[in-house]
Amino acid sequence: MHKKRVFSGVQPTGNLHLGNYLGAIKNFVDLQNKFECVYCIVDLHAITNHQDPKELKSNILETVASFIASGLSSEKNIIFNQASVAAHSELAWIFNCVARIGWMNRMTQFKEKAGTNKENASVGLLVYPNLMAADILIYKATHVPVGEDQKQHLELTRDIAKKFNNDFKCDNYFPIVEPLIPKEISRVMSLRDGMKKMSKSEDSDQSRINLKDDKDLIDQKIKKAKTDNNSIPSEIIGLKNRHEATNLISIYASINGIEVAKVLKEFGGKNFSTFKSKLSESLIERICPIGSEIKKLLKDKNYLNKILEKGSKKADIIAKNNLKEIYEIIGLTKFT
Ligand code: TYM
Repeated sequence: MHKKRVFSGVQPTGNLHLGNYLGAIKNFVDLQNKFECVYCIVDLHAITNHQDPKELKSNILETVASFIASGLSSEKNIIFNQASVAAHSELAWIFNCVARIGWMNRMTQFKEKAGTNKENASVGLLVYPNLMAADILIYKATHVPVGEDQKQHLELTRDIAKKFNNDFKCDNYFPIVEPLIPKEISRVMSLRDGMKKMSKSEDSDQSRINLKDDKDLIDQKIKKAKTDNNSIPSEIIGLKNRHEATNLISIYASINGIEVAKVLKEFGGKNFSTFKSKLSESLIERICPIGSEIKKLLKDKNYLNKILEKGSKKADIIAKNNLKEIYEIIGLTKFT
């Protein structure tokens, strides 16, 4: 039996949004009182697409600030940046040799991110899931809180763990991780198109709520959010094929910690304008204090760097120990 340990990562791409919050960070906060948790700012993943060095540095600190402002404790959890712990990259290389090219080619995120010009994507983007598996397995983490878009990568992590355990005849060495995906909203969708994921890379800022948006902006974005001409149904079945309506109702359920069925009971038969004003209220109440706290924390870069430094030292000890064992299993010798 493996000791229960939570691991998750967030890319430092600046301005985190409601999708990151409801899909992942809110869950990180809930888990911190139940498990030993390791939360990583995955800067090495970010460079699979070119990043401006100055912006990258500042986005890393903004991500730490967003973690803390959302309620993560730097005392209870290990919070650090991936580039500080070399063992992630070293294990990723080993997994490059365990995973198969066919596995990489099946990853939908690679296909989406590489777009039509696959030949021109970085090699890093193709083997990105192997680094992600290394992030998790270098800590022998057992549970991984993520949004639904990361599910396929976690299935690959399970496949890599199984193949490694099998190839090197070390039964149960790596745990077979369990994804922890939020129930009420596993994928927050764009406010402009209920079929598209809410994302930082979407051109229109109107498509997402950013954690740093102020009250007026949130209100305006929700007022303009796409809906349909029907009123809100009283039963879940009435949401069928109504992607935008489903999205807004699920956001409301998730932010208030209630079930979708309960939201429908409350708003069934009403029009969207009544519902939207309640949704704005809930979002403003939850998101605005986080945004203000992020802005405040960003004024003290020294404090944010200290959190990363402390977390990196703790993470490095666990990772180095495990890497030693892994090298031993493979038959490699590390003299340093
Ligand atoms: P990233 O940085 O794109 O997103 C961070 C977290 O936010 C979730 N998320 C969403 N959830 C619901 N709806 C959305 N619209 C939405 N957008 C983002 C993501 O699912 C994720 O949980 N590959 C990962 C980072 C990573 C990682 C790891 C995660 C690297 N190594 C190891 C877990 C374990 C990524 O790019 O997440």
